Amino acid sequence: MYEWWKDEVVYQIYPRSFKDSNHDGIGDIQGIIEKLDYLKELGITMIWICPVYKSPMDDNGYDISDYYDINEEFGTLDDIDELIKEAKKRDIKLIMDLVINHTSDEHLWFKDAISNPNSPYRNYYIFKEGKDGQAPTNWRSVFGGSVWEKVPHEENMYYFHAFSKKQPDLNWENPIMRKDIYKMINWWLEKGIAGFRVDAINFIKKNQEWCDGPVDGIDGLCNCFDYSRNIPGIEVFFKELREETFDKYHCMTVAEAVGVPYDQLDLFIGKNGCFTMMFDFNYSHIDITKNEDWFPPQPWTFKEYKEKLFSSQKEIAKTGWSASFLENHDMPRSMSRLIRNKEERTPKTAKLLGQLFMFLQATPFVYQGEEIGFLNNERQSIDEFDDLNTHAQYQRALNEGYSEKEALAFINRRSRDNTRSPMCWNDQKFAGFSDVKPWLGINEHYKDINVEAQINNPDSVFSFYQQLIALRQNPLYHHTFVDGEFMPIDTEEHVIAYIRKSDSQTILCIHNIQNKKTTYPIQQDFKVLLSNEDVILEDNKIVLGAYQAITLLL
Ligand code: NOJ
Repeated sequence: MYEWWKDEVVYQIYPRSFKDSNHDGIGDIQGIIEKLDYLKELGITMIWICPVYKSPMDDNGYDISDYYDINEEFGTLDDIDELIKEAKKRDIKLIMDLVINHTSDEHLWFKDAISNPNSPYRNYYIFKEGKDGQAPTNWRSVFGGSVWEKVPHEENMYYFHAFSKKQPDLNWENPIMRKDIYKMINWWLEKGIAGFRVDAINFIKKNQEWCDGPVDGIDGLCNCFDYSRNIPGIEVFFKELREETFDKYHCMTVAEAVGVPYDQLDLFIGKNGCFTMMFDFNYSHIDITKNEDWFPPQPWTFKEYKEKLFSSQKEIAKTGWSASFLENHDMPRSMSRLIRNKEERTPKTAKLLGQLFMFLQATPFVYQGEEIGFLNNERQSIDEFDDLNTHAQYQRALNEGYSEKEALAFINRRSRDNTRSPMCWNDQKFAGFSDVKPWLGINEHYKDINVEAQINNPDSVFSFYQQLIALRQNPLYHHTFVDGEFMPIDTEEHVIAYIRKSDSQTILCIHNIQNKKTTYPIQQDFKVLLSNEDVILEDNKIVLGAYQAITLLL
């Protein structure tokens, strides 16, 4: 069957921060519609919008209180229909975020479940009795604190939440609950969306033994991952989910599944797996701890980064299809993260990183602002941050004995607000995002890094991204970029080079990730397809400039 999703280039939108059309300082669906021509000009073929459903916004929409409605600040269901229609006019498809590991505690199901022990919805969630006057297990939630929250007015009863206490987990063991979820998914697919990015989907099965784990923090708790992520038996839920929903629509599904061991890829993206592709976080999580804490900072080298990137490509190719990304709304900006020296975070470097990821064997995802080479924003105090996980990490760092200054440095480096600050469209007040004060501070770099300054500049990062996308989509090379084998090349630590090879073509991509020149030996003729600087050849060697990226047709 034709796997159409391999042909796409996806643009991720964080709706709160993309474009405000109704002067409330919060981005919205009409704002996205306003900018569709911009996205068309960039060349992308699909947008993924983070959750816009009804939500109390504890975790900015990843806490859904009504799957069938849109949060007022974003617009209405009519706006979504208009977005689908307007995008389609421009040959742009839409995928939505699908959050089905948990709902909001303000969802009607949960409200009923928590207030009435005999509610038919109690079994939609995970309620358990405590033991020995304590919570049922000692597991720590992803955002800190116990995964168990005490049920008010009941003696010894708790409910489970892998994320915040306002995000109770759904009980996937309950077939009636699952049916309700499938109905909702199909309702959305009927609207004409092209598929979903599927949130935290490897959490849906929990270890049913509910036993304590070894304490690994001064909070006396144990990270919950070993008990609530990638748990055997999850494949049964996956199979049913796929058959009851996705298969019927031949839609695209990209799994957000952190920490999947490569020998389990099959369940996710194998022939009988649930999803058409997945994000692999193995290389993107190189700078955080195994438990996904942002402190203490983890030392890493480009050698390790390269090995992880290459092994990700190799392992995924054995099983299925990958979704590549440099940035997303849960991570800091890639340049700030990967390029240690501030002075080296230049447009040229942004172009290099863009190329490194665009030509991997994958469906590429570009995160809003990445295409103009955005950087992190240094904030001076914890009060300037919005994200609940940032506040949790800050508090935990303090509890672990770090100073306020150290804790602030950790979150400045890793906070999710780094990618969530409003998109910078121009250098005017509020960066053209809104005409009133936005919900989150405008990034300090907006005067220099904004769309207006780049869109008509042939040397800009934006123009380079346009060329990258156009090259990947060019019918002359597309089949090689999509179906061509990925072949890593052994090089010095700071050069990442790989070949994409099809029956008829060989394309070589070279990236010199350092602030000094080096050379790359080349014996054959070539044609330069793209480069972020002139290509110089000397004695059968390419002289690679600092942060030079080159794509060659051999
Ligand atoms: C992953 C999402 O990308 C993140 O933003 C969210 O906080 C968690 N899942 C919980 O839904």
